[in-house]
Amino acid sequence: MSSPPPPSERIIIFGATGKIGTYITSAIASASPPFARVAIYTSPGTVKAKAAHIAALKERGVEVLVGELTDEERVREVLGKDSHHDFDTLVSCLGRSILSQQTTLLRLAASRSSSIRRVFPSEYGTDVLHPVTPDPHAEPPHRFKLEARALRSLSYTYLVTGPYADMYVGMTGRDLVTRDAEQAWDRAGGFDVRRRRATLLCQTSPSPSSSSSSDDNDDNDVNDDGTDNGKDDVADDRIALTGMRDVGRFLVASLRLPGATHNRALRVHSFVTSPREILREFRRQLNITNANDKNTANNDNTTPWTVRHVDLAELQARERRAYERGDPEKGLFSVRRIWTSGGTLYEGQGGRDNEVLGDVQRETLEGVVREEVGRQMGGEGDGEGKVG
Ligand SMILES: NC(=O)c1ccc[n+]([C@@H]2O[C@H](COP(=O)([O-])OP(=O)(O)OC[C@H]3O[C@@H](n4cnc5c(N)ncnc54)[C@H](OP(=O)(O)O)[C@@H]3O)[C@@H](O)[C@H]2O)c1
Repeated sequence: MSSPPPPSERIIIFGATGKIGTYITSAIASASPPFARVAIYTSPGTVKAKAAHIAALKERGVEVLVGELTDEERVREVLGKDSHHDFDTLVSCLGRSILSQQTTLLRLAASRSSSIRRVFPSEYGTDVLHPVTPDPHAEPPHRFKLEARALRSLSYTYLVTGPYADMYVGMTGRDLVTRDAEQAWDRAGGFDVRRRRATLLCQTSPSPSSSSSSDDNDDNDVNDDGTDNGKDDVADDRIALTGMRDVGRFLVASLRLPGATHNRALRVHSFVTSPREILREFRRQLNITNANDKNTANNDNTTPWTVRHVDLAELQARERRAYERGDPEKGLFSVRRIWTSGGTLYEGQGGRDNEVLGDVQRETLEGVVREEVGRQMGGEGDGEGKVG
């Protein structure tokens, strides 16, 4: 489609109850002014397993259409011109494990019998065409995203958000089901508030010893009030992050602006920071809480943070080993290597596209860290899906 379609009015979402689908669906369902029609297509299994979630969506006016993703006849019927739904826009939030099915879905959406004019394929992450991605075809989710990008008969927008801020500042891989999932955060970066441990990803190590597995203490370069004393700039490599709520906000803004978002990748972010700055923010907030809170038993800031650095060479070696062993977490290392290499910044490639969407409300580092402190100190979110 060469000219942009009209603004989206009747939207159908696939993958709506997943990690990012939940935020995207929530933003679409609560958009103001509201969209004329919002529906999700989900499986009988999800309807049963997530009954409360589905009931809450219905209460918010979201229609729930049930069928298997693999049931082409049912999908065709739901997307059909002749159906009373008459959806104009398809938003896919399908997860990595099912991206192989997305191509068929997008083909059905583009068929003559379909009412869909506009698609948002499942992206919401690293730009699969970024030059620091050495071979995007090697990573299955990237391969399927590229496959989706090759289908261009409908108006398309690829919402490229980089890493989710909520996940990046958390304990990476807490839901990984691997034999050593416990340590996944430690090898791929993360912040453990309870135990005051952080693993910072950086392009180069502060010294040969600190990129090894021995712990090192980073207290020297941060003052007690959390401000930087400027002793070194390791792990200060810039990274652009997007809050998961903001992914929903950016998507809604894109739905409203078909002209500006037609047939393109849209690279957005909430804020730019660095691993070191994130650690500094954790320390600052914990210090403030500590000063105001007499009950510091669970929040004792006299405990120094144990800080390790994992540099690009080490990340690459771990990624290679994970691929050789066929570990399920191999993709985790790939994206973290890309992010740490500057793959969220698009320097020299036109930068990012936030301004295309106008004044969209955005989360801040302070707010995201505050939520993560609450989540970890309150025990909330343990075992919850959080894989960057
Ligand atoms: N930027 C980042 O940091 C980051 C992090 C994670 C993911 N992502 C990207 O975000 C997108 C969505 O990923 P996600 O982690 O949100 O996905 P997810 O939670 O793993 O799955 C999303 C949804 O896909 C559907 N699905 C999954 N497996 C299925 C199966 N076997 N059969 C039928 N449906 C199935 C389900 O839909 P229902 O809800 O209908 O059951 C599920 O809720 C992907 O493109 C991924 O690469 C980005």
